[in-house]
Amino acid sequence: MTTDELIQATAAFVQGRLEGLEGGHDWWHTWRVWQTARRLQALEGGDPAVIELAALLHDVADSKFQGGDESAGPRETEAWLRSQGAEPALVEAVTAIVAHLSFRGQFKSAPERPAAARTLEFALVQDADRLDALGAIGVARTFSYGGYTGAALFDPRILPRNQLSPEAYKSGRGPSLNHFHEKLLKVRDHLNTASARRWAESRHRFLETFLEEFALEWEGRDAPGEGPRGQ
Ligand code: ADP
Ligand code: NI
Repeated sequence: MTTDELIQATAAFVQGRLEGLEGGHDWWHTWRVWQTARRLQALEGGDPAVIELAALLHDVADSKFQGGDESAGPRETEAWLRSQGAEPALVEAVTAIVAHLSFRGQFKSAPERPAAARTLEFALVQDADRLDALGAIGVARTFSYGGYTGAALFDPRILPRNQLSPEAYKSGRGPSLNHFHEKLLKVRDHLNTASARRWAESRHRFLETFLEEFALEWEGRDAPGEGPRGQ
């Protein structure tokens, strides 16, 4: 099997596994991360096969949908690649990326990460995954996830928490709007590569614009004759 054939077979396998999941974590999230990772690879370099396969497999067994089991993703990644006869070094590199991406909600700086998660390939796949949390798509995914867990859009009595423990993050019980402050607005400052940081700028601004508009409408400051937008 050529590398291209392995990538195509992996895409078909993952699509089969993820189709129909919650809209923020379905096959199309993985498809976008794959495409973004390819573009970042063209700008930043790195091994294309490792990057594409890790992007495709990064959420194959998302712990959120596996009763919190963080080991299912790497396990399934390894089993799949082996079943396709991939080279051991390729299996190892891709599995290591999937294993360390799955520690969610944590912004670990590079020195705190194990060696397998300090490669350019890891950096690009993580950046691609994080870019999908920003912009219009980031807004859509957040409310899709909030709908899935039954969260409120916003609740003025519940303030965003500044420091979220991984457990509190995973329980995901707060209003969806708090997630912007708890995580999404911080993403821009935790990207690994210059290309991803440039890419994030307009997506980050869009989040800020969305939050401003949301607050304006919540308080009725856009009513006729009132405030900045009143006619
Ligand atoms: P990853 O980017 O590693 O897949 P997550 O699965 O934690 O990270 O989050 C992916 C997306 O799901 C977030 O960008 C956000 O849109 C949505 N999401 C995750 N947790 C929450 C939450 N508690 N409230 C609202 N949206 C969330
Ligand atoms: Ni993802």
